Amino acid sequence: MGIMNLPLFLLSFVLFSVRQCPTLALKRSYVVYLGGHSHGSQHTSEMDLNRITDSHHDLLGSCLGSKEKAQESIFYSYTHHINGFAANLEDEEAAELSKRPGVVSIFLNQKHKLQTTRSWEFLGLERNGEIPADSIWVKARFGEDIIIGNIDTGVWPESESFNDQGMGPIPSKWKGYCEPNDDVKCNRKLIGARYFNKGVEAELGSPLNSSYQTVRDTSGHGTHTLSTAGGRFVGGANLLGSGYGTAKGGSPSARVASYKSCWPDCNDVDVLAAIDAAIHDGVDILSLSIAFVSRDYFLDSIAIGSLHAVQNGIVVVCAGGNEGPTPGSVKNMAPWIITVAASTIDRDFPSNVTLGNNQQFKGRSFYTNTLPAEKFYPLVYSVDARAANASASDAKVFFFFFHVSTFRYPVAYISGATEVGTVAAPIIPSFSSQGPNPITPEILKPDLTAPGVQIVAAYSQATGPTDLQSDDRRVPFSIISGTSMSCPHVAGTIGLLKKIHPDWSPSALRSAIMTTARTRTNVRQPLVNETLGEANPFSYGAGHLWPSRAMDPGLVYDLTTTDYLNFLCSIGYNATQLSTFVDKGYECPSKPMSLLNLNYPSITVPSLSGKVTVTRTLKNVGTPATYTVRTEVPSGISVKVEPNTLKFEKINEEKTFKVILEAKRDGKGGEYVFGRLIWSDGEHYVRSPIVVNATTL
Ligand SMILES: *[C@@H]1O[C@H](CO)[C@@H](O)[C@H](O)[C@H]1NC(C)=O
Ligand SMILES: *[C@@H]1O[C@H](CO)[C@@H](O)[C@H](O)[C@H]1NC(C)=O
Ligand SMILES: *[C@@H]1O[C@H](CO)[C@@H](O)[C@H](O)[C@H]1NC(C)=O
Ligand SMILES: *[C@@H]1O[C@H](CO)[C@@H](O)[C@H](O)[C@H]1NC(C)=O
Ligand SMILES: *[C@@H]1O[C@H](CO)[C@@H](O)[C@H](O)[C@H]1NC(C)=O
Ligand SMILES: *[C@@H]1O[C@H](CO)[C@@H](O)[C@H](O)[C@H]1NC(C)=O
Repeated sequence: MGIMNLPLFLLSFVLFSVRQCPTLALKRSYVVYLGGHSHGSQHTSEMDLNRITDSHHDLLGSCLGSKEKAQESIFYSYTHHINGFAANLEDEEAAELSKRPGVVSIFLNQKHKLQTTRSWEFLGLERNGEIPADSIWVKARFGEDIIIGNIDTGVWPESESFNDQGMGPIPSKWKGYCEPNDDVKCNRKLIGARYFNKGVEAELGSPLNSSYQTVRDTSGHGTHTLSTAGGRFVGGANLLGSGYGTAKGGSPSARVASYKSCWPDCNDVDVLAAIDAAIHDGVDILSLSIAFVSRDYFLDSIAIGSLHAVQNGIVVVCAGGNEGPTPGSVKNMAPWIITVAASTIDRDFPSNVTLGNNQQFKGRSFYTNTLPAEKFYPLVYSVDARAANASASDAKVFFFFFHVSTFRYPVAYISGATEVGTVAAPIIPSFSSQGPNPITPEILKPDLTAPGVQIVAAYSQATGPTDLQSDDRRVPFSIISGTSMSCPHVAGTIGLLKKIHPDWSPSALRSAIMTTARTRTNVRQPLVNETLGEANPFSYGAGHLWPSRAMDPGLVYDLTTTDYLNFLCSIGYNATQLSTFVDKGYECPSKPMSLLNLNYPSITVPSLSGKVTVTRTLKNVGTPATYTVRTEVPSGISVKVEPNTLKFEKINEEKTFKVILEAKRDGKGGEYVFGRLIWSDGEHYVRSPIVVNATTL
């Protein structure tokens, strides 16, 4: 059977260990978040950093009674861009601390599971194995010298994907490094490798052994995701003969840096430390194939860390989660993050399985050598079988066969795998998490979809392709599926776009990939899901990534840090909490901004009664042109756009328009309906999904 890495996002609170405290009080790990730093984006000296750490000791000391107690309790001080610390505290101490001025939020550290290379040909970057001269790869010089950071399970540095042959000197802005006493060594391709393990130490309550003091990837996940985003071209990549081709990262000439925070589970305190370090080191893009439980934005280390990253011009791309198709299961839904769903490419590895009782199933196999037909083979129990018992009906039959059947030794026969290059795609698999956004339904999430099913990329040599302990095979490349795999496809593509448009903001880059995404398959049918039901923007956002069109989107919906702060005001944060983000102080708008009017490249009205006006602003990033609007109206809703023509005379010129949505009297109401808004000058098509739930009339 195929290898599927569909991580389970099992959530559990980190349980603390009781330290030698005479009171035997229960201490747990907390993040205490204090916003930004007064030093802003200026370079800081060692003295400044010590002063900040000292201020953290003072703040906690004032609560615990002594600075010494504070020093003992704090195990991370976030000093570069994020201001805050991680500490072991009693719940009462945390509650007391939350009342202190300057404390923006305080939350329990939580632990979470993690979530060929034909995919680039499917994305149009090459044709028949050739890279055409107009390919975005050529135009972007393969992402040359863009720096991509990856927060994951580390890296297998000897993989050919991270070979630095022929690469020039490391960009001078880079401040990162490789851990000094680690056997993971940097080169001109892999320019940073750091680990963050204090959260694990706090959890175990004892010093960590050597297996926790290396960036070396023993699980394979981090090597796979990092090489998908920025790995070099490596010929002859395959898994046991399947998926043969050249392994390629999206930005093969980019530099890469690995920030290991997952062992293999990740937790808030370590991820926050990694993001603070990556901003300081000078990455251009951060790729996080991690999804935490849905929490309010300032109680979530990925949302907090990425806001600081975006403020520093860094694009943050995150996996949307593998908990679909449940509505509202999407993760990483802060509006400053690029949130990625997963979908198939036009390749499959079909195979049949016949159980010992002659029941037959369709499945997938990556093993090309056909087994002799006369014979059944013993079945091995995989770690995922228990999970399979809960998700799919075929898996239930297998499970029953394995555990309950009268066969003493369960056996099966697997037919040879066939590779097909002409399958209809993309299709949204059921595992890909779906909207609506559970925290702010006005912001559509996921933002878009990208290849995340059966992806070939580099792998760790410390584990076999099935992840079973008994599997002693070692493979340089492996095939895995998940939003963990689609996320680095977008990160790699952003590397190319950033090379072409170095001055575009993270939001402008996101707008470019969203408004040019496609909502049809390679056979020009609307996108569907795994059971061939109609897919909608809650599963694919604006549509499927289409890199070559994203190079030249014509117009973009841009957003600044102030827009994001205004958004935070609208959801209840006040200026005191947000003031540390901007050097000159910050005030919430006197009239709160409607969440419908955040200048996002999609429009979502979660509860429309009667009529509502939504505003958006477009910025010209192309040549002077006149754009006219066309709408595909959601069923039962009327859509009017004012004005319906926008004339742009120069580059970076901005024009605002209104979209008036009205529920028709005969409309059904009570359920989400979908449409699109399309601005075009005849050459560019700037598309936005419209998502509306009209309340029952
Ligand atoms: C390190 O500690 C972990 C957890 O306590 C244990 O599973 C692992 O085997 C240890 N590794 C070594 C190299 O001692
Ligand atoms: C699987 O079985 C079907 C018939 O049940 C057959 O058409 C198909 O070729 C088989 N596929 C493989 C890969 O053996
Ligand atoms: C399989 O799942 C069912 C519920 O769907 C549960 O009742 C049953 O106990 C599970 N079997 C095992 C062996 O875990
Ligand atoms: C596929 O789409 C149909 C129609 O929208 C829906 O009813 C079904 O639950 C979806 N299935 C999956 C697995 O997403
Ligand atoms: C801002 O919010 C914090 C935390 O909720 C509260 O303590 C403070 O009084 C508020 N400030 C203002 C000016 O409303
Ligand atoms: C649509 O909005 C109404 C009113 O706010 C709400 O009761 C209903 O649950 C919403 N429908 C969906 C599908 O979310």
